[in-house]
Amino acid sequence: MLFKKLVLENIRSYENLTIEFPKGSVLLAGDIGSGKTSILLGLQFALFGLQPGQKGSSILRQGSDNASTRLDIEIDEEIITLERTIKKSKNGSITQDSSIITIGTKREELSTMEMKERVIKLLNYPKEFAKKSNLLYKFTVYTPQEEMKAIVQEKPEVRLDTLRHLFGIDRYKKIKENAEILLKKIKDAIKLKEVLISELNLLREKFTSENEKKITLARGANEISLDYQKLIKIKEESENKLNLIQNTIDEKRELDSKIENLTILLQGKKDLESRMKKEVILMQKQVHEKSDFSEERLKAVSELLKKHQEILEERNSKFLELSSAVSVLDSKKERPLQLKNKITSLENCPTCLQPVSQDHKHRIGLQFQYEIEEVNRDLEQKLQQKQILINEIEKEKELVKGYEIDKNNFQQDKIKYEHQRTIEIKIKSDAFVLERTSNEIVDLKDQIKQLGIRSQTFSQAQENFNSTKKEFQNINEKMRIKEITTATQNKELELLKIRLEELSKEIQGKEKIREQIDYLRGLQGWVQKNFITLVDSMEKIKMAQLRSEFSKIFKDWFSILVSDSLMARLDEDFTPVIINQDYEIDYDFLSGGERTATALAYRLSLNQVLNSQSYIKTKDIVILDEPTDGFATEQIDKMRDIFEQLKAEQMILVSHEEKIEGFVDHVIRIKKDGTSSIESQ
Ligand SMILES: Nc1ncnc2c1ncn2[C@@H]1O[C@H](COP(=O)(O)OP(=O)(O)OP(=O)(O)O)[C@@H](O)[C@H]1O
Ligand SMILES: [Mg+2]
Repeated sequence: MLFKKLVLENIRSYENLTIEFPKGSVLLAGDIGSGKTSILLGLQFALFGLQPGQKGSSILRQGSDNASTRLDIEIDEEIITLERTIKKSKNGSITQDSSIITIGTKREELSTMEMKERVIKLLNYPKEFAKKSNLLYKFTVYTPQEEMKAIVQEKPEVRLDTLRHLFGIDRYKKIKENAEILLKKIKDAIKLKEVLISELNLLREKFTSENEKKITLARGANEISLDYQKLIKIKEESENKLNLIQNTIDEKRELDSKIENLTILLQGKKDLESRMKKEVILMQKQVHEKSDFSEERLKAVSELLKKHQEILEERNSKFLELSSAVSVLDSKKERPLQLKNKITSLENCPTCLQPVSQDHKHRIGLQFQYEIEEVNRDLEQKLQQKQILINEIEKEKELVKGYEIDKNNFQQDKIKYEHQRTIEIKIKSDAFVLERTSNEIVDLKDQIKQLGIRSQTFSQAQENFNSTKKEFQNINEKMRIKEITTATQNKELELLKIRLEELSKEIQGKEKIREQIDYLRGLQGWVQKNFITLVDSMEKIKMAQLRSEFSKIFKDWFSILVSDSLMARLDEDFTPVIINQDYEIDYDFLSGGERTATALAYRLSLNQVLNSQSYIKTKDIVILDEPTDGFATEQIDKMRDIFEQLKAEQMILVSHEEKIEGFVDHVIRIKKDGTSSIESQ
């Protein structure tokens, strides 16, 4: 890094300042209190802002409320501009206000912390300096005027700690601390894991015993399985036997059922036989008295009846004829009788109206009387004929009636006769059926007898079946017991297997943990014996290297600055030891110039060693504020060699010594008239 340009506004004794820093060595010259240190403080503020513990009032110009810095730096040939402001609030507190960084054309406004971090990063400084007081800048670039000697006078352990920090040696300490933490963690982990595997042996024993149990159980199961196989065979045989017996029983049952059916059939036939026999006897009784029916006689009677019926019919029609003739004759008598009676009672003739004489009456009366008597004679004859006819009709009626009765009787005889014929035919057919039925009965009896004999031969079958069945059931029961035992054993085996698997897994897990413990123990041993020792020796070697380098450079710088009578070296804790003719002189007993020289030599060698150890971007720049305070003239002369040997690309010096002006490339004069300003450049 190189400083290019600094602009200050209201910083300490400056109201306004623009200062450009050329390459090479620059001397800031000026009277006491003219404002030289203020520029260096302005540079430091412009770079890092306020340091922890640094008051704002040490920067802000008294009487001002606002201040600002603007610094151009060059890093790797790139110009970076850093801008900061400070402001004073009404209550008097002074705070950093805004921070702006511009890289190339990119301008960014950042918070104070961001700005600090950004600059630390740009300078390749360790991150921690963003929060801490920037010791690296302090010891490699700019040590404030009063603090130059402080590092030398510091307590050895504090200085050593500071140096270890600067050299990055404290990282070994950190590594060791971390290694201890790691060791503790490893120990804790081992303890924990040991607890976890505490039951490993017990588990192994358990596994062995459970496994033996499993083997015994498996053997037992195998034996049961063999027995079971045998039982299956026995059961099969028994089953076959049972089937055979069952067939026999079925056959017997069939025979018995046949016998039963035949017996029922036989009984039916017997019933039929006896019923038919009774019927035949009854029928025989019916045909016992033979009817004397004759067809010829029936025919003769029928003919006679017919003949007399015809005669009767003829007589009846004759009677009707006679009856009507009698009626005609009776009506023929009516008129003469009426006329006779009329004449008798008649006085005058109805025609001539002349009285009728008795004679005349008598004569005419007689005439009518004759007429009547003639009719009466006819009538008498007819009535006689009618009487004869009635008698004949009565006689014929009697005959017809008698023949009708006869005919009826004959017809009934005929019916009876025909019935007897039918019965006789029935008796004959029944006799045939009876004979057949008798034969069937004999046959059925025979069949039943034969079947009975056969059925008898199977009488033992049921008993056999029962005993075989019992045997079969016994086998079944035995098999069932075996099955239950097998199932129980299998279940037990299954559980054992699961248990064994679990145990095995647990053991494996614990063995893995044991392996981990072994590994951790190895690691613990390695960290304890090897790693920490290694880090220790690395630290010692590094320290020794640095110390020897530092010591050599310090010796050189010291010998340049101080007269030959004094020698200098660094002791174990980097404390400068000054020797005057074999005697160590306490730092406080040295002259002012010697003390400054010691401090400067220490400061320069520290700067060199640090720069050689790191990649920080401020390697090429050195700022020295009054490095020659109290120097004798010859010591000041030696500053020329020192500046040459430092070979810094940019060196900013502050000194009152006019002589120094001749040793540098550039001189900037500062003056103060109320406010500081550049007098000449
Ligand atoms: N906050 C401030 N406001 C105003 N002036 C200040 C402030 N702080 C310091 N000063 C004054 O600024 C002036 C310059 O101080 P500075 O330390 O820069 O002087 P110098 O040139 O380094 O002097 P020396 O050679 O004695 O070291 C001094 O007079 C100092 O009292
Ligand atoms: Mg000063």
